[in-house]
Amino acid sequence: MAEKWTPESWRSKPIEQVPAYPNADALVRVEERLRVFPPLVFAGEARRLKALLGQVAEGKAFLLQGGDCAESFAEFHPDNIRDTFRVHLQMAVVMAYGAACPVIKLGRLAGQFAKPRSEKTETVDGVTLPCYRGDMVNGMEFTPQARTPDPERLIQAYNQSASTLNLLRAFAQGGYADLHKVHQWTLGFVAASPLGERYRDLADRLGETLAFMAACGLTSETTPQIRETDYFTSHEALLLNYEQAMTRIDSLRGDWYDTSAHLLWAGERTRALDGAHIEFLRGINNPVAVKIGPTIEADELIRLVDLLNPAGEPGRLTMIARFGADKVERMLPPLIRAVESDGRKVVWVCDPMHANTVKTFNGYKTRHFDRILEEVRGFFAVHAAEGTHAGGVHFEMTGQDVTECVGGAHAITEANLCDRYHTHCDPRLNAKQALELAFLLAEVLKDGRMRLGGRVAASS
Ligand code: PEP
Ligand code: CO
Repeated sequence: MAEKWTPESWRSKPIEQVPAYPNADALVRVEERLRVFPPLVFAGEARRLKALLGQVAEGKAFLLQGGDCAESFAEFHPDNIRDTFRVHLQMAVVMAYGAACPVIKLGRLAGQFAKPRSEKTETVDGVTLPCYRGDMVNGMEFTPQARTPDPERLIQAYNQSASTLNLLRAFAQGGYADLHKVHQWTLGFVAASPLGERYRDLADRLGETLAFMAACGLTSETTPQIRETDYFTSHEALLLNYEQAMTRIDSLRGDWYDTSAHLLWAGERTRALDGAHIEFLRGINNPVAVKIGPTIEADELIRLVDLLNPAGEPGRLTMIARFGADKVERMLPPLIRAVESDGRKVVWVCDPMHANTVKTFNGYKTRHFDRILEEVRGFFAVHAAEGTHAGGVHFEMTGQDVTECVGGAHAITEANLCDRYHTHCDPRLNAKQALELAFLLAEVLKDGRMRLGGRVAASS
């Protein structure tokens, strides 16, 4: 029998990645203020996302999760939010066309401010300071003042999340997400891409489909689904003081929801079975996810699934696999078998970013476009072989024209990385690289659909 859960039961468990706040009282006062701030999302929306993820688990929808590795206070600007939203929409439309199924858009934003770190401190020229843990905790500048964790930053992160979410909701419902507009932007991308010829066919067919739908009377004016969209938010639930303060009872159902985002996940470094982060996620009713990498064992994974989804609720639990292009095909199959053989259902998502990070000759952290694509392809191949559903992808990406990942049609090289390397943490795909990946993924999704169609036809 599991112990009783409360929003604070995580406090009696071992915890990783905790900032050393110099003034514990100041932190408590900030938590008290946060506790009465309005929720950022409504429980009904989290339930809707859970239902959609239930469709993903059944292979009837696909998940596209993406956004910054870490949002920053300095780069808070409406244009950045708009551009990330726009590329996310474009990718989703292209992929939905390839997969011939709905693509759920889940932003890694409006709350993604805290970062787990491998080291507690950083030493430069003999000076040792606490490491940077994301703008929600401390500043990036290498000074004792900036690096000291400050709880007021939790309030700033809340405020920035609230206004980000407000703009996203306006874009999603106010006409900016109109399919015709999204398609026009995509045509612009295809025309400018050195590999445009490869993508033109899909883009043209999409255009013809929209024209045909209009001929049938399905236009932006007549059909809300064409001019509006759903957009959900997610982040790593790393700072549990903040997450607890945002956790409220849903007045409609009487259940606990973490209202800081629709979906919360535990990272690779904080997913210990008996640790505080899993304890916290266990009791909230949002859909939740866990990042899993090469160190996870099959029995540990099963225990995680049983802890986080004891009732086997569809869409409740997503496993975000981040094994690396060289390991995914070897390490993922036994884990899938272990989970699915006993009838447990999870959503399987591929994060091809976090285990493919390398350091370049000039000291930049980067990721190669080809390795990213290779891990995604490996992930799809594993699921095709196992007869399970590849449910989605998780990208670190931005709508900006940064130079952080190498490769892609515009062939960013290691020497180019210094041109526009802006990330506050991990290297992100830029808008063109992200959309290019969506086109390549659409091909993979379409091939999978054809294969499945063949299998169904052969067996009928
Ligand atoms: C991240 O998603 O930014 C991250 C730190 O991932 P992981 O927990 O998989 O290392
Ligand atoms: Co990251």
